[in-house]
Amino acid sequence: MIVILSTPRLILRRWQASDRQPFAEMNADPQVMEFFPSLLTREESNQLVDKIEVGFTQRGFGLCAVELRAGGSFLGFVGLSVPRFQAHFTPCVEIGWRLARNAWGQGFATEGATAMAAYAFNTLKLESIVSFTAEQNLRSRRVMERLGMTFDPIDTFDHPNLPEGHLLRRHVLYRLRAEEFASP
Ligand SMILES: CC(C)(COP(=O)(O)OP(=O)(O)OC[C@H]1O[C@@H](n2cnc3c(N)ncnc32)[C@H](O)[C@@H]1OP(=O)(O)O)[C@@H](O)C(=O)NCCC(=O)NCCS
Repeated sequence: MIVILSTPRLILRRWQASDRQPFAEMNADPQVMEFFPSLLTREESNQLVDKIEVGFTQRGFGLCAVELRAGGSFLGFVGLSVPRFQAHFTPCVEIGWRLARNAWGQGFATEGATAMAAYAFNTLKLESIVSFTAEQNLRSRRVMERLGMTFDPIDTFDHPNLPEGHLLRRHVLYRLRAEEFASP
């Protein structure tokens, strides 16, 4: 196991073969994927894992698999990524999260993301990170707010990968600068 970070309840680590099945199940769950344009097939889910692992090899950071310390189950991901599309805030490093439905409501996303933000600033020495999501994704926005990220309506943008008129096109951008972050 290649551990990137650990928190009181979680291990954030590189991906393992055993993560693929539960990750594909999450990505096929309409509740988990409510604010994404489509569910992922098993093949697309596996391709996403491959892409994340290539990113780790190239950059040294990425979206970490999240494992529950107690019992070792796979919960989803929390980590850092580099958006490929162009927008007014790119290039940038984004902090993001996606957890299985049964792992919601327990503070796991916030716990993992707080440790990941500390890692981004203290270890990777990033000056700032962003996070974005469809305007309607209030659960994710609450995680951003709990992390101390701030939202300025002027940063609202239309996601360039979604067609005009798509319900999820409007996105909000939250920002966090190293000096604003209260390290845990
Ligand atoms: C976004 C997502 C990760 C948020 O998960 P979450 O569990 O709501 O977020 P947190 O880990 O911060 O947990 C907060 C909740 O846990 C509760 N909680 C329980 N124990 C807690 C603890 N020890 N510490 C903090 N919160 C705790 C909080 O009261 C809050 O509950 P509420 O939602 O009823 O108000 C999850 O909804 C998800 O995976 N969604 C699908 C994927 C997605 O949209 N990702 C973002 C795309 S940009």
